[in-house]
Amino acid sequence: MALSLTVSAQSHVMEVNTKKLGAPIQPTMYGLFFEDINYAADGGLYGELVKNRSFEFPDRLMGWEPFGKFEVEDDGPFERCPHYVKLEWPGHKERRSGLSNDGFFGIGLKQGEDYRFSVWAKAPQGNGKIIVQFIDRATMGEKQEFAEAKIDIASKDWKKYQVVMKSPRTIDKAQLRIFLDGQNTVCLEHVSLFPVNTFKNRENGMRRDLAQALADEHPGLLRFPGGCIVEGVDLATRYQWKNTIGPVENRPLNENRWEYTFPYRFYPDYFQTYGLGFFEFFQLSEDIGAEPLPVLNVGMSCQFQNWNDESAHVPYDQLQPYIQDCLDLIEFANGPADSEWGKKRAEMGHPEPFNMKYIGVGNEQWDDLYFKRLEPFVKAIRAKYPNIQIVGTSGPDSEGEMFQKGWAAMKAQKADLVDEHFYRPENWFLATPDAKEKYGNCGALRYDSYDRKGPKVFAGEYACHGKGKKWNHYEASILEAGFMTGMERNADVVFMTAYAPLFAHVEGWQWRPDLIWYDNTRMFKSVSYYVQQMYAMNKGTNVLSMTMGKQPVAGLEGQDGLHASTVFDAKSGEIIIKVVNTSKQAQPITVNLNGIKGERTAQTITLCHNGSMDDENTLDQPEKITPKDGSLKLEAGKKNTVLNDEVPAMSFRLYKVKK
Ligand code: AHR
Repeated sequence: MALSLTVSAQSHVMEVNTKKLGAPIQPTMYGLFFEDINYAADGGLYGELVKNRSFEFPDRLMGWEPFGKFEVEDDGPFERCPHYVKLEWPGHKERRSGLSNDGFFGIGLKQGEDYRFSVWAKAPQGNGKIIVQFIDRATMGEKQEFAEAKIDIASKDWKKYQVVMKSPRTIDKAQLRIFLDGQNTVCLEHVSLFPVNTFKNRENGMRRDLAQALADEHPGLLRFPGGCIVEGVDLATRYQWKNTIGPVENRPLNENRWEYTFPYRFYPDYFQTYGLGFFEFFQLSEDIGAEPLPVLNVGMSCQFQNWNDESAHVPYDQLQPYIQDCLDLIEFANGPADSEWGKKRAEMGHPEPFNMKYIGVGNEQWDDLYFKRLEPFVKAIRAKYPNIQIVGTSGPDSEGEMFQKGWAAMKAQKADLVDEHFYRPENWFLATPDAKEKYGNCGALRYDSYDRKGPKVFAGEYACHGKGKKWNHYEASILEAGFMTGMERNADVVFMTAYAPLFAHVEGWQWRPDLIWYDNTRMFKSVSYYVQQMYAMNKGTNVLSMTMGKQPVAGLEGQDGLHASTVFDAKSGEIIIKVVNTSKQAQPITVNLNGIKGERTAQTITLCHNGSMDDENTLDQPEKITPKDGSLKLEAGKKNTVLNDEVPAMSFRLYKVKK
């Protein structure tokens, strides 16, 4: 017994007080941030496979390849999406009229899966016919088409038609082809193709694998719809939630502000159909057990694009419609089914309230332009909905004058939470001396000195933006894990967090790193995803004090890159210890679990990688780096249970011990 207590000379001794419960950990502590960037909505999570399905893109036929005799008309059945295509007989039986759609970087289909093709159509002369095909133009086989359906368009009036087609193949870049069969004219509007097997099998549903990955993250919070998308490049292109509800056929198109944001990555076909709109966001939050946190426009366009040009923002005396949008949203989410906006929710299939508790007003805004505009929003929301918690913002910086000014204003306006954003390099996450000189308290030390009486923190967007390495490499994820021990240790002030951004299509990204990547048929979870998941699934209910040499374990001098935090989980009765070794050597540790005695077995989960620190998961190797389960025997010391271990270099290990 005495032997097992021997602690090597270099072992790092940590003390955990298991007897005294510290601050409660909020259920919202580890959340997700969804923004339609990187083709996250259309072409990503939203299950629709047809691009420009309503012919509303400014170039009406973008994404379509028409042939034969066709016309784009603008007196369709949907007021806010009036365009449609008319196909006519091209005058000869050997000619064809039709069109094919490219999807988003192709249409992804899976072998054996059913797909629901639907279209609004009319045949002015009656008795129209169309043929619908899945085609592969890159095929070396005889036939381009590999699935086909015929639809009779019997009505002279607009009507919805649909057919389910099975794909005999898995293919990443199919096309959807529709053409006239016979001589009668057919008009087509809102041409749609969805997998039948969406998340929760909803017709206007989400891509199953991607939505499941969100659920598997066990998020406590879902912030949506952005990000800079809330603001738009200009006010005309801001996100307007009221345009995103009701029948999908009549949701007007909006430009996606990430179309041309980065001169080195243009995406002229990036628009928002709003098929994934606010109702769907609330429903998704409910499905995955996350508190919804919608963010609304504060009467400002993106300050990065417009800086402090007052003319780009709403005049102070004209903010009322924007304030009303906030109040109406709260009624939409929470109001009774017979209230004006609650009725719209009920008509969409959710008579029960969504029980929304938080609202964000403004994304990354700064300076008096924002502070002055925010005031009337706060006043109006407090007056009508005193229980709703208001999330303000401290702007795009993690420190500095603008950030300080933002926090001071949020305190003065008594915001409940302040949304902080930080995309910072490795040294920031490690709080190296040079980083501390440049940034002040950073890394795992960041929240130790925060004011306990002010608004709570929502670390709403953060990621390690490696210096010259802005991708999801392993090293960045481990540094994020180390930093997160500091958030956890400070759970009395940090109430919510979210890594950013969430999704990226491998062929359509504008911003890296991102949590989840995909093409049209496959996906992979980044290592950062696993880090977030390890925290979210083991967040516990209360912080426990954990120290090394009476100091927090935060990679301080003499701590050899170790970061650690401990929580107690009242539901499982477990003590959960998280240790991150950010150094390039394995580190021996000894953790004294003061307050419990005797031998124990800890369950362990380890994220560790022996290859290059630049490695990452990929579509071809989605599970190259994943956490692994294990166990460890803890010893019975004289006074307490003792955990002795060697934490591998650049690794994250957590231990779960029954109290
Ligand atoms: O997540 C990408 C962008 O980063 C967000 O839109 C914005 O809030 C931040 O600048």
